[in-house]
Amino acid sequence: MTADRLCFPEGFIWGTATSAYQIEGAWNEDGRGLSIWDTFCRQPGKIWQNQSGDIAADHYHRWKEDVGLMAELGLKAYRFSIAWPRVLPQGSGPVNVAGLDFYDRLVDALLEKGITPFPTLFHWDLPQALQDKGGWTKRETAERFAEYAGIVGKRLGDRVTYWITHNEPAVAALEGHYTGQHAPGIKNPLSAAWAYRHLMLSHGLAVQALRASAGRPIQVGITLNLSPVHPASDAPQDVKAARRYDGLLNRMFLDPVLRGTFPRDIEKIFGLLFKVNQEDLRTIATPIDFLGVNYYTRSVVRHDPNVPFIQASEIRPEGSEYSEMWEIYPPGIYELLTRIWTDYKPANILVTENGVPVPDVLEPDGRVHDVRRIAYLRDHLIQVHRAISEGVPVRGYFVWSLLDNFEWALGYRMRFGLVYVDYDTLARTVKDSGRWYARAIQENALPPNATI
Ligand code: FCB
Repeated sequence: MTADRLCFPEGFIWGTATSAYQIEGAWNEDGRGLSIWDTFCRQPGKIWQNQSGDIAADHYHRWKEDVGLMAELGLKAYRFSIAWPRVLPQGSGPVNVAGLDFYDRLVDALLEKGITPFPTLFHWDLPQALQDKGGWTKRETAERFAEYAGIVGKRLGDRVTYWITHNEPAVAALEGHYTGQHAPGIKNPLSAAWAYRHLMLSHGLAVQALRASAGRPIQVGITLNLSPVHPASDAPQDVKAARRYDGLLNRMFLDPVLRGTFPRDIEKIFGLLFKVNQEDLRTIATPIDFLGVNYYTRSVVRHDPNVPFIQASEIRPEGSEYSEMWEIYPPGIYELLTRIWTDYKPANILVTENGVPVPDVLEPDGRVHDVRRIAYLRDHLIQVHRAISEGVPVRGYFVWSLLDNFEWALGYRMRFGLVYVDYDTLARTVKDSGRWYARAIQENALPPNATI
């Protein structure tokens, strides 16, 4: 390694990530059932400019072109999600063969190009039919999820080695059931608590179902959204608030999955609200092969008596750099990865999402000069490299996202892609960041500076 080139370990998994509802479109084609996001987007005022994923990036029709783009970038891996309502339009019962076929073809096309598929089973698009029966607030939904996992595992397990059960259960539970900013738009702490328990339980059940159905050894993990939590000041009240917030954001997910325990301090704060029983904890702690980590920013927290239970709220620190969504804080990914390693020792860690929204413009020269994204990715990869060089077993890194896409409640306002999507024509253009990333992949090292 030369002084100005940071080399990554041999076999490092360079990838990008997407999710079904955010890119596929084709919401009512080939037998797909409705998801809670189809319903939520139709409620006026929930999504920026009342947009929806009806068309999104039209990946359902353009998947061949998209796999071609991935090959052009030299990706080693691609993380995508499977739409449960495409496979099981009613959430359970008869399988929609056309839906499964779509993912089957995608997997084959990826493998043909030497790109390792990393499917996620649940990236928030619950079948509406299950929501109508109570969704994640009901234990039965966890059981239905395990059945769905088994069906997909049986069909794709002969070729797919790496599997992710859930994407960010914290967001599905809290944004979906407490703040109501995401589908299904419920605003009830009790619903959020039940959703949390059943999402977690369903993870453990799905790990078992996948292993049982694949018919050969596979690698299974879960993706959590995690952040280092910093106190807003040295005042003991803020320090304590940060610890509580860390429990809610990080430990409440890491402890059950990796230790089979529930954090004591959180139990004290919430009483029995979120408490998971011993038997379910054992299921949730079914051993996994890797932990997926999504990192975007840190949390800076102060004591706030107005917030029920947790008495803590986030502030936006002054003097920091911000993207259109969050503070840009590259050292946070290093802090997070080393902390996970020190406290939990998972055998393998994958950064399953990291990226930044930029108000990209397609210039007259036909290019997108997203220098800010290149700087963001580079600064974060430097920190990932630092963690690896200190012995943290980070095996791969996935940029969010391959393509510009539907950013949930923020609609198409946020562009996260390495590839620009013109939403009028749906034409794709590789951004400068895509070219930069392709070079990093090719060299298995970070280019010496932010140029391409
Ligand atoms: C994550 C989600 C992903 C995307 C990014 C920006 O929380 O997993 O779908 O929206 O944020």
